[in-house]
Amino acid sequence: MRFPTVALALAGIASTVQGFWMGDIAHQGVAPYAAGGYKVFRNVKDYGARGDGVTDDTAAINAAITDGNRCLQGCSSTTTTPAVVYFPAGTYSISGSILPAYYTQLIGDASNPPTLKATANFAGFGLIDGDHYYTSSLNWGAVNVFFRQVRNFVIDTTAIAPGTAATGMHWPTAQATSLQNIKFNMPTDSSVVHVGLFIEEGSAGFLTDLTFNGGATGMSVGNQQYTMRNLVFNNCKTAIIQLWNWGWTYSGLSINNCGVGIDMSAGGTSGEQVGSVTLLDSSMTNTPVGIVSAWASSGNTPATGGSLALENLALNNVPVAIKGPSGTVLSGSSGAVTITSWGNGHRYTPNGPQTFQGTTNPYARPASLLNGNKYYARSKPQYETLAASSFVSARSSGARGDGNTDDTTALQNAINSAASAGKVLYIDYGVYVVTSTITIPPGSKIVGETYPIILSSGSFFADMNNPKPVVRVGSSSGQAGTVELSDFIVSTRGAQAGATLIEYNLATSGTPSGMWDVHTRIGGFAGSNLQVAQCQKTPGNSAVNANCIGAYMAMHITASATNLYMENNWFWTADHDIEDSGLTQITVYAGRGLYIESTVGTFWLVGTSVEHHVLYQYQLANTKNIFMGQIQTETPYYQPSPNALTPFPPVASLNDPNFSTSCNGVSGNCAAAWGLRIINSNNVFVYGAGLYSFFSDYSTSCSTFSAGQTCQSRITSLEGTISHVNIYNLNTIGSISMLDRDNQRVAYYNDNVNVYPSCIAVYQSG
Ligand SMILES: *[C@@H]1O[C@H](CO)[C@@H](O)[C@H](O)[C@H]1NC(C)=O
Repeated sequence: MRFPTVALALAGIASTVQGFWMGDIAHQGVAPYAAGGYKVFRNVKDYGARGDGVTDDTAAINAAITDGNRCLQGCSSTTTTPAVVYFPAGTYSISGSILPAYYTQLIGDASNPPTLKATANFAGFGLIDGDHYYTSSLNWGAVNVFFRQVRNFVIDTTAIAPGTAATGMHWPTAQATSLQNIKFNMPTDSSVVHVGLFIEEGSAGFLTDLTFNGGATGMSVGNQQYTMRNLVFNNCKTAIIQLWNWGWTYSGLSINNCGVGIDMSAGGTSGEQVGSVTLLDSSMTNTPVGIVSAWASSGNTPATGGSLALENLALNNVPVAIKGPSGTVLSGSSGAVTITSWGNGHRYTPNGPQTFQGTTNPYARPASLLNGNKYYARSKPQYETLAASSFVSARSSGARGDGNTDDTTALQNAINSAASAGKVLYIDYGVYVVTSTITIPPGSKIVGETYPIILSSGSFFADMNNPKPVVRVGSSSGQAGTVELSDFIVSTRGAQAGATLIEYNLATSGTPSGMWDVHTRIGGFAGSNLQVAQCQKTPGNSAVNANCIGAYMAMHITASATNLYMENNWFWTADHDIEDSGLTQITVYAGRGLYIESTVGTFWLVGTSVEHHVLYQYQLANTKNIFMGQIQTETPYYQPSPNALTPFPPVASLNDPNFSTSCNGVSGNCAAAWGLRIINSNNVFVYGAGLYSFFSDYSTSCSTFSAGQTCQSRITSLEGTISHVNIYNLNTIGSISMLDRDNQRVAYYNDNVNVYPSCIAVYQSG
């Protein structure tokens, strides 16, 4: 009030300055399975948030989230009410938690990220609380929290007294979730007890580009598995406390002026809580202790608990690189030194197990995968330098996305016209039904509004003997060009036994093509007609309901495709119905997961997951130069009722596994989906893998150590001419054999017991 003229002048400037396109474009998302009038896009300012740094905006922000009967307390999960909650630049003062409903993206202005600033008397568990404790239990089981994002924020707890407990963000989540471009500002006072990011449960997941300044702990995190990339920690007492995990991949950490880098000693030597950590391409500076570990060569319990694999860790003034239970295990230096490779746990090179602690001898990294001395990586583009006029709307171009109209022609025309005009295609939220193949030409940039769905339907995709792509990237294998694809889902409706959801053909030169937060989802959601009503599980009955054969393959990377960066992709055949309040399990068949048969190679799979496909989750054949980390799989819950011989007969031209021959002489549930199968390939670098088989005919009793991990006989297969396959922290669950080479068991689960999986810290094929 004291400077009204200045405020008015600033307001005048603001109205002429270009904002982030996401705020400026037409907002036309339609959620066809929500009530009429439901809004997908919400600008918090339209709900009364001021962002002036003074007004308490908590209620207004939560009103923007809850508008339209969203899924919050008491709601198990749903895909029917998706929302983008957009925050223009500004400082939003909040006194209580922001509670994102299920299927929410919180997105700040990428060109000028808004600040969420806690008031001094802030009350809540996280400025953003991703899964609220209304009771002593999380509102949502953390392993079922899918499809959500938070990006472009500054989260500031500096107004809260340093000695008062405060949490920047509470984020127990699962697959297809991401955090990107978030800065956590906390006090640096020595009395500080603040924590930036707190995760206690879940089955995630991916996050990238976070900065933590100050605080007692940058991140305090536990989850089954995670891929975390490009994280900066400045002046934290401890950068990372690893609460528990099965497997975890950190890439591109920069830890500066902290007391401890990573503390993974939870539970101690006799009760290790942290299964395994893979750390690569990272640096630590001016930090007295790099890693605190509880691992010991004798008495370590479980035997492989605290497994560690390091590559390319640059230290500068880190006197103790690794501190073990009885002191320094690996010295650092007062100056600069790089740990090329190091680890502890069990190794197979290629046979074992050998218990080791020390240097490992990794194969040379292929130059085509590198940027300088690190693996190439690129965060999801947000196009923050483009104006709204650089975007073409799918809906304005005539596609309806109403879950009903055949949008094949309209969507294809929108894709083509955006590409030829050099614009970005914005797929407004909707469910776009297509009845023949959609082709994405080179030059395309496509961005979805909170995961619109391209949904195949009809007879074109129904023939298992004549499979067809739903979405084809490049019209033929080896077509030249580049694409950038982000934030959408490819799916099928009903019986689609011949649907390959994504066929990837492009041969990109120079900067790699990219696919960020693009998922395939087969069954288990409104509009799929592969739900409880159609496909409820039938334990004990192995008869196949042909109406529940939902897909032929999730994604096929063809023989001449090359140079694709994939990040945070979840290829999911549904095990349960997301719309069902009881999360009732369903049996949906999809033949194959992700198949790479590119002879040219050069692919990055960063934070990907493939689940519940019949024959395999990941299969690589005749390929090379592949980065994978962390990969995660699950075997279908119904197998062996029926087993993997049904309903997809093996196709020799696709190098399908032929269980009727390969299972000769193998006891137990042998004809079960491979988690990872590699045939005739070289230079495959797996930085963390979690290959899980929890069920046998819907019973979990097979997946414990006491039951002998008998859900299936084998889960990882290397066949034929294999060289330079390196796997760090191979974690398997429910499989007697952890890894087979040419149908011979290499690693037995009981030789490598970890916290819940079995773990091999280092596998090298030779
Ligand atoms: C799979 O193996 C069986 C039994 O040996 C054989 O009859 C069949 O032709 C094989 N299928 C393929 C696709 O190779």
